[in-house]
Amino acid sequence: MEKLKMLWSWSFLFSLILRTSTSLDNITVFQSLSDGETLISHEGIFELGFFSPGNSKGRYVGIWYHNMSPLTVVWVANRETALNDTSGVLKVTHQGLVLLVNGTSNSTVWSSTMSIKAENPVAQLLVSGNLVVKDGHNEENFLWQSFDFLGDTFLPGSKIGWDPVTGIERTLTSSKSADDPGHGDFKFRIDPRGYPQAVLTNGTVIMVRVGPWNGLMFSGATIYLRYSKLLPTDYDFIDKELICKLQPLHAYSVIRSVVTPWGGVQLLHWSRQTSSWETFLSLPEGECDKYAHCGANSVCRVTPAPICTCLEGFVPKYSRKWKDMYWSDGCVRITPLSCSKDGFKKHSGVVLPDTSTSWHNMTMNLQECEALCRKNCSCTAYSNLDVRGGGSGCILWFHDLIDMRQGGQDLYIRLPMSELGDESNKKKLVGMIVGSILFFMSMMFGLVLCLWRKKLEEPEIFWWKQRAHEREKDDMDLPMFDLSTIVYATNYFSSDNKLGEGGFGSVYKGALENGTEIAVKRLSIDSEQGLDEFKNEVQLIAKLQHRNLVKLLGCCIQRKEKLLIYELVPNRSLDTFIFDDSRRKLLDWAKRFQIIGGTARGLVYLHQDSRLRVIHRDLKTSNILLDKDMNAKISDFGLARTFAGDQTEARTKRVMGTYGYISPEYAVRGSFSMKSDVFAFGVIVLEIVSGKKNREFCVPHQSLNLLGHAWELWNEERPLELVDESVRNSVIEVEALRCIHIGLLCVQGRPEDRPNMSSVVRMLEDDKPLPKPRLPAFYSHQEESMGRDDGVSANEVTISLLGAR
Ligand SMILES: *[C@@H]1O[C@H](CO)[C@@H](O)[C@H](O)[C@H]1NC(C)=O
Ligand SMILES: *[C@@H]1O[C@H](CO)[C@@H](O)[C@H](O)[C@H]1NC(C)=O
Ligand SMILES: *[C@@H]1O[C@H](CO)[C@@H](O)[C@H](O)[C@H]1NC(C)=O
Ligand SMILES: *[C@@H]1O[C@H](CO)[C@@H](O)[C@H](O)[C@H]1NC(C)=O
Ligand SMILES: *[C@@H]1O[C@H](CO)[C@@H](O)[C@H](O)[C@H]1NC(C)=O
Ligand SMILES: *[C@@H]1O[C@H](CO)[C@@H](O)[C@H](O)[C@H]1NC(C)=O
Ligand SMILES: *[C@@H]1O[C@H](CO)[C@@H](O)[C@H](O)[C@H]1NC(C)=O
Repeated sequence: MEKLKMLWSWSFLFSLILRTSTSLDNITVFQSLSDGETLISHEGIFELGFFSPGNSKGRYVGIWYHNMSPLTVVWVANRETALNDTSGVLKVTHQGLVLLVNGTSNSTVWSSTMSIKAENPVAQLLVSGNLVVKDGHNEENFLWQSFDFLGDTFLPGSKIGWDPVTGIERTLTSSKSADDPGHGDFKFRIDPRGYPQAVLTNGTVIMVRVGPWNGLMFSGATIYLRYSKLLPTDYDFIDKELICKLQPLHAYSVIRSVVTPWGGVQLLHWSRQTSSWETFLSLPEGECDKYAHCGANSVCRVTPAPICTCLEGFVPKYSRKWKDMYWSDGCVRITPLSCSKDGFKKHSGVVLPDTSTSWHNMTMNLQECEALCRKNCSCTAYSNLDVRGGGSGCILWFHDLIDMRQGGQDLYIRLPMSELGDESNKKKLVGMIVGSILFFMSMMFGLVLCLWRKKLEEPEIFWWKQRAHEREKDDMDLPMFDLSTIVYATNYFSSDNKLGEGGFGSVYKGALENGTEIAVKRLSIDSEQGLDEFKNEVQLIAKLQHRNLVKLLGCCIQRKEKLLIYELVPNRSLDTFIFDDSRRKLLDWAKRFQIIGGTARGLVYLHQDSRLRVIHRDLKTSNILLDKDMNAKISDFGLARTFAGDQTEARTKRVMGTYGYISPEYAVRGSFSMKSDVFAFGVIVLEIVSGKKNREFCVPHQSLNLLGHAWELWNEERPLELVDESVRNSVIEVEALRCIHIGLLCVQGRPEDRPNMSSVVRMLEDDKPLPKPRLPAFYSHQEESMGRDDGVSANEVTISLLGAR
């Protein structure tokens, strides 16, 4: 009663702020509503009426946002039973029940349950979206309200959890689908066991633990912190009941939380600028959000890999399985606890473990909490309950610690002294602290000095800022995807959707809600220069558009995830065809020749024709994807570097690329140029022709690689023996000879001997005589031949002539 009063006064206040006139319009009050009629709340925020969701023809009674497209329904009366025609009427009966009846036969399809009978009942749709039934004489007493029977949507003003007076549980239940508002499998509810925590369940199984309330938020909803200032809400969690209020200042904000039909919780905000829903919070977001993904006594982190790590003092229960990334068995103690001689180790930045078997006291402080935990030998950890104002309250765990992940709280874990280090270590610790303070100070001093000097020397900082600004502007052209969209599109990055491992992370396939198929490259961030490479890749590829390059649709940088979203190239990569005994037949000679040509044209574009000069650096058969017509599309520009102006060669500290495709100058000296890509292209051409991998190639009794083998066959004037047997029937000999010839020219040991890519394209297209190839790189007699170098070769001259035409 007290609560209802509060709610009422709150919505009263709400309307006060929205409009100066506070008089109740009688239109919001009704006794009967037929299909076709709607009722609009004060301020035109919500609308009540009959509707058909999605593609369904069934009629439902519901509440939605007035004048909003797309139709966003926040509550449905007859969730389970649709009406099959427009004969329905929503009535307030004499007993005060809201009924949905068949106007012809008077049969009841749905009714609200109400214990108190009313004299003169009317129903009203409030500004908050709450449909209430009240007695005509008693304005403040709701006999029934839709907020007590939430559907899949949580609105400001509503509550979920356990009503302290009646003991009724209020939950959010997902819809079956966008077309069917019936009760789905997923529930967002407050688990009352131990210290209450919010969970998302599938049937009776916990899927995601949104966490215990820490005074500010559910501790598992870590991302919420970032938006808590933006979100105009005020949540209160009192005795197993979560209450959400809208702060009056932000009365114009439209927010809602919803449990989605596919098993997620979202917190959304209506953006007036874009006229669309923005997602503030979306769970689950990744592997770590899956309940107990890492098993007991371990912490799940998105980065760095591996995602699961045992707590200090614990080791994997089965180390073999753990190494193979079967995490669910979790971790066990190295040394058993010895009770009186144990200590506690502070573990920062976590989401508190499952509290369903914990014990708590709201008023104790941390010292009392520690003392209590120390006294009870089966207590395994303790923590503050409320993080506000330096922390208060006490929570104790007595069993394994389940479902810990990266978060914002401190947990004190019981460990035997042997794992903590003894007293003498404390002195060392003090020494270390003093040492690190000194070190830090000297670092700061150095930094200040450095910045100061930089300011004196060069006005470059300004230039750099301007560059950053320009870059930002460039980034704006690239569509940014929402993380939750991608998570759902890839089914939580499920292993079924995994296409493979690319240069810097895994690639998943997925489908957006509109049906567009995508390939998502999820960068593993443990790679040293992940962020730079990511930005590099995004900026490059966004500008590069060519039919032989994989198209970048957008990217997503959210939380710690860095994702690239590409068009899905349906036929996967070239290596899955030419090196596979059953699939190699699918690529006849004409297709192979077309792939060679397409790859060459893509590379010409990268090297010369695009706005930037781009060196691929990791060209290989698995980076050449095939579209539905088997056209080549080059992918994975993660290693690409932009070269400004005439700078065509660069040295790099890190040798990257893939064995079998790395040119000798790069492998030995780390020097990389377009000619290194040409080398890799040559290897690919020979691999396509022969159907054999350069790296794994071997001829009995000879120590030759594929390049050496091709070279010997060429010199013995039987080059066609190199051609893959499965294309022998379809092969056009002139073309095959030319491809082998070009391949050999491209893999010559010295970069300056190799043609550039535009020459290669011309060589492929016409039938002019080609220069004679010299020894390929990595040929067993190579050292000798490099030794008797005869200055500028005739080949080089020929090639530059070719290039000058
Ligand atoms: C609203 O309805 C009541 C009774 O149904 C009537 O007395 C009152 O005048 C109406 N108010 C307005 C503003 O129409
Ligand atoms: C509408 O039709 C479906 C299937 O024909 C039936 O299951 C359902 O009960 C019908 N609804 C009503 C209100 O009669
Ligand atoms: C309403 O009742 C009539 C008569 O019983 C029936 O023909 C019609 O199908 C019913 N409509 C719904 C929506 O149940
Ligand atoms: C339906 O109910 C109304 C009033 O409650 C009554 O007048 C009417 O006769 C009823 N119709 C049928 C078919 O029972
Ligand atoms: C929910 O549970 C059902 C039955 O156990 C299962 O088939 C389904 O895959 C689960 N859904 C999710 C999203 O986990
Ligand atoms: C919580 O701890 C305080 C201080 O130790 C004590 O006074 C109070 O009774 C405790 N409350 C419960 C519910 O145990
Ligand atoms: C330790 O705590 C557990 C759980 O509250 C309780 O069952 C047990 O009796 C306690 N043991 C001691 C020695 O207090």
